[in-house]
Amino acid sequence: MPSGRHSITHPTIDTSTSLMHLINQPGCIRYAQQVRYQDMAAWQACIKQLAKKPAIISAQTIYQLHEQLEQVLKQHALLLHIGDCAEGFADATEAITQKKSQHFIQMKNLLAQGSLMPVVLIARIAGQYVKPRSQIWEMCAGEYLPVYRGDMINAHQANKQARQPDPQRLLLGYQCAKRIWEDLEHISAPLFISHECSVLEYETALTRSVNGLYYNLSTHYPWLGVRTLHSNWHHRYLSLIQNPIAFKINADSDVQRLLMHIRQCNPLNLPGRISLITRMGRAISHKLPIVLQAIKENKLSVIWVSDPMHANTQLDHCGLKYRLLADIFQEISESVRIHKAHNSHLAGLHLETSYEEGLEECIDDKKQLKRTRYYKSLLDPRLNQGQSLQVIKYFIHCLSE
Ligand code: PEP
Ligand code: CO
Repeated sequence: MPSGRHSITHPTIDTSTSLMHLINQPGCIRYAQQVRYQDMAAWQACIKQLAKKPAIISAQTIYQLHEQLEQVLKQHALLLHIGDCAEGFADATEAITQKKSQHFIQMKNLLAQGSLMPVVLIARIAGQYVKPRSQIWEMCAGEYLPVYRGDMINAHQANKQARQPDPQRLLLGYQCAKRIWEDLEHISAPLFISHECSVLEYETALTRSVNGLYYNLSTHYPWLGVRTLHSNWHHRYLSLIQNPIAFKINADSDVQRLLMHIRQCNPLNLPGRISLITRMGRAISHKLPIVLQAIKENKLSVIWVSDPMHANTQLDHCGLKYRLLADIFQEISESVRIHKAHNSHLAGLHLETSYEEGLEECIDDKKQLKRTRYYKSLLDPRLNQGQSLQVIKYFIHCLSE
């Protein structure tokens, strides 16, 4: 398990300019979700500062994750990837990090005991601060406002000033992430950290060269969400780094493109380098077999993970998101069933969860929509503590059937 105490020295050489040059080749489709800052010079100055900051994690802990993911691929371990949809800067305290890590470890232990397998725990923590969004604007109290894009871009409060992107937030995000990772190391939490690969300038500023190879030293396991899946830029960046990576796949994902991206990012077909996180909702029965078949025919080595949350999001009459437990269970059981039917192996779950009891972001019963729900997530609905336990137990049940 990762431990900073034995880590090698953190390199601080600024490789971001040379990396951006490698990524930014002719013909590259730029990222659709790019943020427009009022003061681009201030933004550039922040990126320059980031490139001089010490790394957050060590390359050594990335090797450790690689080794453990090889075990997952060999079906000697399961994978659990959990945490908030979006972390808030206000959560970057030792007390909250402690509560979150206790919750993650409890879920990991439950899965390990129930499945009789070791579990690799990867948490959506220490840097999950940027959210790609489907809409750029939203209506709040009769006024159109730019949407919240994650604490590293703008503030959550519903007013114009808060929603203005502020480049200083990139530096604040780095500080919060660093602090959380240090706290996790301090309490010896046996987990790796993960965030969605989104703002490439942030990612490249914290990508460093170690023994001639590039490592993203801001997170162990960057993943690409479905809104970024068609960005050549992001794939080119991910193809240049040594970290294990993950792609999300939805019902609309183009299989040929997916194969191309997998080959681009893993030309040697290294075991454990790529995880595919499926989030398909009802479309899973039709789509997953097609994707499984294509991966198998092309003999590509991937770790399969099910995200039963993101394709099962609905809006209540106030426009607040919710997810029904029954839909989450349904996607888990279908995933397990289809993998078994194709002689494939589902290695784990990707969940949005909270340590808090009593949250009503995800619900058991639509009757709960008739009253004001206890909702604290900055964006997507998370499973509360009790629901998280239920979902893991259900997954164990499906695996054992
Ligand atoms: C997420 O994981 O929070 C997310 C936005 O996922 P997706 O890209 O699958 O919608
Ligand atoms: Co989410």
